[in-house]
Amino acid sequence: ADPELTRALGLVREVTDFPEPGVLFQDLSPLLADARGFRAVVDALAGAVPAGVDTVLALEARGFLFGAALAATRGFGVVPIRKPGKLPAVADRVTYDLEYGSATFELPVGALGAGNRVVVVDDVLATGGTLAAAAGLAARAGAEVTAALVVVEITALGGRARVPLPVHAVHGV
Ligand code: PRP
Ligand code: MG
Repeated sequence: ADPELTRALGLVREVTDFPEPGVLFQDLSPLLADARGFRAVVDALAGAVPAGVDTVLALEARGFLFGAALAATRGFGVVPIRKPGKLPAVADRVTYDLEYGSATFELPVGALGAGNRVVVVDDVLATGGTLAAAAGLAARAGAEVTAALVVVEITALGGRARVPLPVHAVHGV
């Protein structure tokens, strides 16, 4: 493995019992703050994109960072999937369960449709509810959803089984 990538992944900080008891939070902030580490992780994501993709679907909030960086690196467009109340015009929305509580995602009007070939990008795969919800929104909009890419997968939660897509994780914990 690329030693720079290994070093970068070692910067991920695990925080027990956040945001609630029993949850092991993956804090990628130290990795993002490290110039070479961030570059190495974005390059690893960029190398995992299926052929023919033109659009990154980036998930608020932490998926924005990696998704936009990946899109710029590879020359793709980026469609931000937003938490509720932020978009002036909502094409579609989905409510989904999280490890802690539930959440809603909204798809902006005019950003995605038939003819787009997309990858879904997020920082962490835990239970898989987030990726599954985002993939469903994109599919309902008529886009071809090829894969989900994440930096960290919490493998013990088995979340990839809930995601109806090939999932590529840069790192498993
Ligand atoms: C976290 C993380 C992933 C999601 C993974 O986001 O950034 O998006 O949880 O969980 P799942 O696989 O169990 O669905 P969160 O909703 O906490 O919000 P944020 O990205 O806005 O910080
Ligand atoms: Mg998130």
